[in-house]
Amino acid sequence: MTIHIGAKPGDIAETVLLPGDPLRAQWAAETFLDSPVLVNEVRGMLGYTGTWRGNRVTIHGTGMGMPSLSIYANELITEYDAQTLIRIGSCGAMQDHVGLRDVILAMSCTSLSTPSRGILREVNFAPCADWSLLRAAATAAEGKGTATHVGGIYSADVFYDERPDLNEQMVRHGILGVEMEAAELYTLAARHQRRALAVLTVSDHLLTGQALPSTDREKSFGDMVEIALEAAFA
Ligand code: HPA
Repeated sequence: MTIHIGAKPGDIAETVLLPGDPLRAQWAAETFLDSPVLVNEVRGMLGYTGTWRGNRVTIHGTGMGMPSLSIYANELITEYDAQTLIRIGSCGAMQDHVGLRDVILAMSCTSLSTPSRGILREVNFAPCADWSLLRAAATAAEGKGTATHVGGIYSADVFYDERPDLNEQMVRHGILGVEMEAAELYTLAARHQRRALAVLTVSDHLLTGQALPSTDREKSFGDMVEIALEAAFA
């Protein structure tokens, strides 16, 4: 047990999928894993361990934003020895050629800051995806015929952003989409020599104002979970 995770040693698999929403962790575990077992429910942050094609996998919520993700990813890495960490989440599209339901594989993450700012200080560290996972996820997405984009994303600190000029600069610099967690996940993975990737489904579009109706979300999110699982065990 750690401060925020009630799982016993050995309850967490080496491979962990990390949705922001704990109820999505439950849905993904019950939909895609064989014999999922609830291993954490401290603060309602659900985590399940089961198997996928015979491979042990944990699916664990992170909450929203980098400070919350940082708590769970730190404990999963340092206390439970998680080796491969794949964020599965939603994002807002920032380019015209990126559509609702498309998948974005985050090659790199731009941010204003991350919880790791305190140690990196003046350095503009460049958090980037693990290449083997990124390549395997691109191959898996291609095999499924999912519209997929690979490139830079923006890990923002605020959802209700009062600085439209920042988003404009992101769009101008080719950033594909915005979410709020991946930069810290990639930074932690780099620090601890683990593999990390963010597989994101576009749930809304910042340029057009479109948003995915909640009824449509499940199928799109399912593709993302399968891409993440295939990449983890490629
Ligand atoms: N902003 C930040 N995070 C997000 C968004 C957004 O528009 N959509 C999904 N996650």
